[in-house]
Amino acid sequence: MIHSPKTRIVSQKMIFPGCCLLKIFSPEISRTAKPGQFIQVRILPLLDSTLRRPFSIHRVNREEGELSLLYRVVGRGTTLLSMERENDFLDVIGPLGKGFNIPEGKRKLAIAAGGIGIAPLFFLLEELARSENKDYTIYTLLGARTGEELILVKEITSLTESFPGGVEIATDDGTVGHRGPVTELLEDVLANRPVEMVYACGPHDFLRVSSAMLEKHGVAGQFSIEERMACGIGACYSCVCKTRRENGEQPVYKRVCVDGPVFDANEVVF
Ligand SMILES: Cc1cc2nc3c(=O)[nH]c(=O)nc-3n(C[C@H](O)[C@H](O)[C@H](O)COP(=O)(O)OP(=O)(O)OC[C@H]3O[C@@H](n4cnc5c(N)ncnc54)[C@H](O)[C@@H]3O)c2cc1C
Ligand code: FES
Repeated sequence: MIHSPKTRIVSQKMIFPGCCLLKIFSPEISRTAKPGQFIQVRILPLLDSTLRRPFSIHRVNREEGELSLLYRVVGRGTTLLSMERENDFLDVIGPLGKGFNIPEGKRKLAIAAGGIGIAPLFFLLEELARSENKDYTIYTLLGARTGEELILVKEITSLTESFPGGVEIATDDGTVGHRGPVTELLEDVLANRPVEMVYACGPHDFLRVSSAMLEKHGVAGQFSIEERMACGIGACYSCVCKTRRENGEQPVYKRVCVDGPVFDANEVVF
């Protein structure tokens, strides 16, 4: 884990109202970061600036030493973060947590993103595209409230075009693609295609419904989950989530920041 108290902002842009793409210069973190890991950002103008805000690593450019975050403006911290500009500095620590992995022999993958949940999954897609192994099939499912809030569809289509599978879109209002939740696309893929592993990130309800579907179809999954965090390094237990154990034993609470944020889909009690 690296603490970088003076990390320069390379660029910041709003890609649609309330959603920002922030690029920082962080060669040490970008060199070792894995898809699904996150960084903790200290937002200095906040009164409680000691409480950092966690963000998934959205993409890395190891040659340039750059790392990007994709985030929604939801409260005080993210509002202040969205006001930071090129050449301002941030205090960050990372890479943190456990990321996604691709088990040996699993080749038929589905990637399902609810809204801003595409942030860590984009990095996973980039790593799959960079990998020497090209015999993956990747079904990519993207959900958003409305067409205007679809994120990086062109980039995702070009990242995945060398793999069989394709990109499917669902919007709640039907402005683009299937009208309805992205879980309806996932149900269709699970029922009709030979998927072996599902990677997902998105709102809690989306993950809860997806987890039940995976159980019904007997398909494995890895989900990136979010809990409110304080320290981000395993010390405060503010981020626990309930996880099940085998043989009907009592569930245990695990720390999302160090035991996750990526968990097996059947492990988390939603
Ligand atoms: C491991 C991890 C990775 C994350 N990655 C991303 C990402 O890539 N992009 C992104 O937009 N967001 C991400 N989040 C959520 C992000 O951390 C919160 O949106 C952010 O901390 C809100 O800060 P704030 O000060 O603006 O909001 P606050 O003023 O603290 O709260 C405003 C609203 O945000 C909600 N919120 C606050 N903290 C969290 C949290 N940790 N998780 C979920 N909701 C929260 C609150 O419930 C409230 O509704 C991630 C969270 C975790 C735990
Ligand atoms: S945020 Fe402190 S233990 Fe996870």
